[in-house]
Amino acid sequence: MEYLEIVGGNPLCGEACIQGSKNAALPILSAVILHRGTTVLKNCPKIIDVLYMLEILKGFGCHVRWEGDTLVIDASDLEDCQVAECYGCKMRSSIMLLGSLLGRMGNAYVSYPGGCVIGERPIDMHLAALKKLGAVLLEEAAGLRAVCEKPAGAVVSLPFPSVGATENVILLAAVAEGVTILENAAREPEIGELCRFLNSMGARIRGAGTSRIEIVGVKELHDTEFTIMPDRIVAGTYMFMAAAAGGEILLREVPLEQLESVRTVLSHMGVRQEERENTLRLWSTGRPCAVKDIRTSPYPGFPTDLQSPLLAALSVADGCSIIQETIFEARFKIVEELRRMGADIEVEGQKAAVRGVPKLSGTDLTARELRGGAALVLAAATGEGRSRIFQYHYIARGYENIIRDLQSMGIVIQCT
Ligand code: EPZ
Repeated sequence: MEYLEIVGGNPLCGEACIQGSKNAALPILSAVILHRGTTVLKNCPKIIDVLYMLEILKGFGCHVRWEGDTLVIDASDLEDCQVAECYGCKMRSSIMLLGSLLGRMGNAYVSYPGGCVIGERPIDMHLAALKKLGAVLLEEAAGLRAVCEKPAGAVVSLPFPSVGATENVILLAAVAEGVTILENAAREPEIGELCRFLNSMGARIRGAGTSRIEIVGVKELHDTEFTIMPDRIVAGTYMFMAAAAGGEILLREVPLEQLESVRTVLSHMGVRQEERENTLRLWSTGRPCAVKDIRTSPYPGFPTDLQSPLLAALSVADGCSIIQETIFEARFKIVEELRRMGADIEVEGQKAAVRGVPKLSGTDLTARELRGGAALVLAAATGEGRSRIFQYHYIARGYENIIRDLQSMGIVIQCT
């Protein structure tokens, strides 16, 4: 069984280039099927979730080919609108094919995405919103069948700024008859990227990045060539790695304007930062400072996807920190693994109290989900001695080549 082997304890020294954004690429790949033509995507990350999504698109009848790092997808002839069960349950993001399948084919079948280690992850908001646009949903035993002969624009108000539900509404409303006003929309940068992509195909969407998005449905879309923005969560993971392990790194292709809340926390941790265009130099000596009170929240708040990497970094801070998770109900599962390295963390409900220790010790660890797995890599790179991280595939779902990136920042890491 493949595992990562890391020898930690040395300060970072080197540089890395940030990959394309997973959480922008996935909704964009769903949007590709709205157009009966060809899409060219640059900087699309070659991660497991993208490869799964491409298998699903091929199952619909899309022609997919890589030209180096460029992806060319021809969605002219779609024959099927069924997401194969093997992919639907493997990858939650398949639920965001609902909006684009209904927009293109007028019907869809997706298996229930199911929960995962970090939480139940229901889809009630997706379904209620799509019904507002005219979808009829038939909940079957293993999956969800949906029909929408004539999607019509409507006013849709989300009870919570759900990223996925916002994306599903945008995907269907882009080709619906009339105007859709989406209220309490998610403001994450990935929403803006999806809208930028759709507008590059001829869609008419305004207000992305705000809580109110206006979508004027169009009949036709056209070919486009689009470059996907860098991944802010991958960048933030490496930034917290520098905070924990110390040393000096240079990150290239960093979406700096999307990381303000993260950079504020890094400053409180004592990490020095120097930005130049889209590169960021970070350096720190000694243990990071503790950060009194951090809570995750929807963008532009502190991102839930960086909560586990931050938790791992604060495990070696000088002092006590409190982290509150407000988005997912089970994102502290990673604490048991960090404790096995010597971390001193107490969890009570949705709050974790972290008493920093001088050093973590390497040991055998098991990843059980994507960002928790990345936090283990951070802890292993910081800790003394050798660590092995099993179930590495969880990490490969979102990090294109964490081995290449960490080696280029001076970390002793290999996959065996
Ligand atoms: C997206 O998930 C991201 N995934 C997640 O990143 C990210 O953590 C999350 O947004 C929040 O930023 C992708 O973009 C592929 P939500 P999504 O709908 O859309 C509840 C990673 O590590 N909810 O904003 O599933 C839900 O249970 C992943 O890259 C409902 O109750 O997130 C959660 O508590 C992990 N009903 C909260 O809302 C619904 O119908 C936020 O979920 C939908 C969501």
